[in-house]
Amino acid sequence: MSWRRSSTACASIRRLTPVADPDDLDPGDDGWPTDWFEEDSESPRELEPPLWEQWAATSATLPQGERLQKVLSTRGFGSRRVCEDLISAGRVTVNGEVAVLGRRVDAEVDQVEVDGVPIGVRAGLKYYLLNKPVGVVTTASDPQGRPTVVDIVPAEPRVYPVGRLDVATEGLLLLTNDGDLAHRLAHPSHGVDKEYLAEVEGNVSGGGLRRLREGVELDDGITAPAKVSQPNPGILRITIHEGRNRQVRRMCEAVGHPVTRLIRVRIGPLRDPQLRPGEWRELDQSEVITLVESVAGAPRRIR
Ligand code: URA
Repeated sequence: MSWRRSSTACASIRRLTPVADPDDLDPGDDGWPTDWFEEDSESPRELEPPLWEQWAATSATLPQGERLQKVLSTRGFGSRRVCEDLISAGRVTVNGEVAVLGRRVDAEVDQVEVDGVPIGVRAGLKYYLLNKPVGVVTTASDPQGRPTVVDIVPAEPRVYPVGRLDVATEGLLLLTNDGDLAHRLAHPSHGVDKEYLAEVEGNVSGGGLRRLREGVELDDGITAPAKVSQPNPGILRITIHEGRNRQVRRMCEAVGHPVTRLIRVRIGPLRDPQLRPGEWRELDQSEVITLVESVAGAPRRIR
């Protein structure tokens, strides 16, 4: 089978039809060949495949995978610009070959190395997930001498808390020396979801829940829509993506139900019901990558 172009009466619509070698054409019962043929041309002109074959060929040449600088940036090698410089400097290889700018990779399949070291989570970066107990302050050092979250995790390399939990709040807190990730996680434009369990005074009415969901007027402005449910009377499950000071406590207070106990149970993709108060663990590589990816997309609109 060969392919050639045929035209119809409407010059703007080109029909691309398969054409058998004329010698192979086999007239059917109605006198037409059973195979397709060119309607208005004596001789084959240029060879051209049908649309579906053209489409397949085009898709095969479409860029595949992700830009190398994006992959490197996601893995903690710095901003896209910094990663472009790494590539331009010839320090990045893909499957053993020095990569050039514009290269796309499938990070699951391609072997990417920087300075001969396979990319994973960048060496030297630490990510700890701590279940902060009540009474511990979320600072690097406390002038009042209270225990701090950095006292609980290894001292070297120095890590810093991402965001903060009130001294009276328990639950998950991330500590890291990855400043780039910390900045993105803390920035409201990325605002990853944070989920809390709040024990409050009284049973919150449907109207109260609706106000919490739709936005509550606080002294620093109305809160963004939140996910709120009351699985048991006086127990709220609240998911917010803003990081305002004492936000959950102030929201609940604003609807007449002061918080008596507050626990953060999720930060973006990170949960760990096994982690006891006061315990910490390092994130594994896939958790770090998922976390980085959760803030790698377009910034969220700030209300
Ligand atoms: N909201 C609060 O009110 N307190 C916290 O510690 C975290 C969120």
